[in-house]
Amino acid sequence: MTAGNDTIRIDNQEIPFTAGQTIMDAALAAGVYIPHLCHHPGLPPSGNCRLCMVEIGNRSVAACIAAATAGQQIRNDTPELNAARKAITQMLFVEGNHICPSCEKTGNCKLQAMAYHLGMLDDHFPQFYPHRELDASHPDILLDRSRCILCDLCVRASRDVDKKNVFAIAGRGTQAHLIVNTPTGKLVDSPMAKTDLAANICPVGAILIKEKGYEVPIGQRIYDRQTIRDIGLYEQAEEKNKE
Ligand code: SF4
Ligand code: FES
Repeated sequence: MTAGNDTIRIDNQEIPFTAGQTIMDAALAAGVYIPHLCHHPGLPPSGNCRLCMVEIGNRSVAACIAAATAGQQIRNDTPELNAARKAITQMLFVEGNHICPSCEKTGNCKLQAMAYHLGMLDDHFPQFYPHRELDASHPDILLDRSRCILCDLCVRASRDVDKKNVFAIAGRGTQAHLIVNTPTGKLVDSPMAKTDLAANICPVGAILIKEKGYEVPIGQRIYDRQTIRDIGLYEQAEEKNKE
């Protein structure tokens, strides 16, 4: 069966879409999970984690950016694509200090949950153990750049939802790093509040709300109870309910 006028086909499932939707939006709305870390419903895509790469014919596209177009035949949940996603996840792990047992985000961390989802059993690559600036200046918020995966979510959340423009990513390639848009470069001098979306959207343990880390015991946290697939579908449905 081929996909119709207003449908795409992902693996063996026909999926409806509406004009303007990305492949990611259409897939999640139909209950088809495409792995992602830098996509968040309601925020513009940035396309930088590359976890959501899917194949159309002999092309690879980022599902969070590519528009759904009638008749597309898309491969998503294949051993090859999932192996590539696992390698990307392993690289993210070694590039930062993601020492899960000593991180207070454990159980609530999307990177950790993605590793479980993809069956990652080791880091594969040598650890970098970076020493990047830690900013504990804000009374309520901690920023540990050594865990930042440069997903750009805090940048977009602060700019587009909180309307405060607290963060930016400076530099390119291996020099890329998260900066705070204040004269001192410190969070304490920014208008950021712990209720901001930017303070609560970090998928890893790079932005943490102080004095909250162990309120929920390990074993009862988000990804202790649900998979990243279920949460990904849930987040999209929640955004739809707001419309
Ligand atoms: Fe993403 Fe968190 Fe880094 Fe911001 S601090 S870019 S949300 S990983
Ligand atoms: Fe598409 Fe990150 S979710 S590139």
